[in-house]
Amino acid sequence: MTTPALPPRPGTIALPRLCDVDDLDRTSALALLDRAQTLHAAALGRAPALSSLAGRTVANLFFENSTRTRTSFSLAARRLGAEVVDFHAHTSSAGKGESLLDTWATLRAMGCDAFVVRHGNDDAVTGLADQIQQRESTPASAIINAGSGRHAHPTQALLDALTIRQHKPDLSALTVAIIGDIRHSRVARSNLKLLPMLGIGELRVAAPPGLQADDLPPGVQRLDAIAPALAGADVVMMLRLQRERMAAAEVTDGAGYFRDWGLDAQRLALAAPDAIVMHPGPINRDVEIASEVADGPQSVILAQVGNGVAVRMAVLEAVLRRR
Ligand code: NCD
Repeated sequence: MTTPALPPRPGTIALPRLCDVDDLDRTSALALLDRAQTLHAAALGRAPALSSLAGRTVANLFFENSTRTRTSFSLAARRLGAEVVDFHAHTSSAGKGESLLDTWATLRAMGCDAFVVRHGNDDAVTGLADQIQQRESTPASAIINAGSGRHAHPTQALLDALTIRQHKPDLSALTVAIIGDIRHSRVARSNLKLLPMLGIGELRVAAPPGLQADDLPPGVQRLDAIAPALAGADVVMMLRLQRERMAAAEVTDGAGYFRDWGLDAQRLALAAPDAIVMHPGPINRDVEIASEVADGPQSVILAQVGNGVAVRMAVLEAVLRRR
């Protein structure tokens, strides 16, 4: 089961795991962003694929739906020469009661090295990584969180940071506004850790009553209307209403939400004239964002998607580096 350690490659760091932004510090986060930038052309298929992960197998374990995240992890692994196994929870033995740890052990026994895990429970991915650490004295399995509950989505925060940096390199001069359903958003929680770590100038979070987070870190401005959040902002990050995580009583009607909280061209004019508009996807048109903005000149939503492949290549290299 032991695969020889990979030789060091210039520009890559070694990470034991990536369950949350807490597994990073400023130096390792910046190193991942730099490496992702270097890999950008290969990530998008505009430069030849690499072979740094040849002989490695990456397993995607997704217990929740995904379009962007799963596809980009698969492409990232393949464009580094690794093999990919796609595990679909709804057609697997997880539906027969198999635990996450037993599912991991099964795929591990088939020679999978890295496990990209998405799960509905906040603690599932960190819990799995901790359990594995107890089993494998020198952990041979790399765990990467591809989104856990409301809690963490570290590779999304990294790809968001890469996108911001490509458009506006001096992060210390920026005001970032995160707007929408903050309460249920793992994307917001991971960004609220990573952006301050990278020295962002000002961070604002705006949500309707009931959708604000009660665990905002210190230093983040909390607002209850969209206009003051947008005023002069350099980066506007819109979030979807995550109805699947809401109790029935919380579910807001889409048209009413758009009237009070939707980003259209008129509202976007409140932000800095060269502001960029971001969204992790999937977007719900005319609920949190109008098509004129989502498809407009200030939107970087599809650039975020492309950066997702590059960031995930950098992360896969880093977690498989020492094994
Ligand atoms: C996000 C997620 O799953 O947390 N999507 C993504 O990974 N790009 C955001 C969302 O579902 O709204």
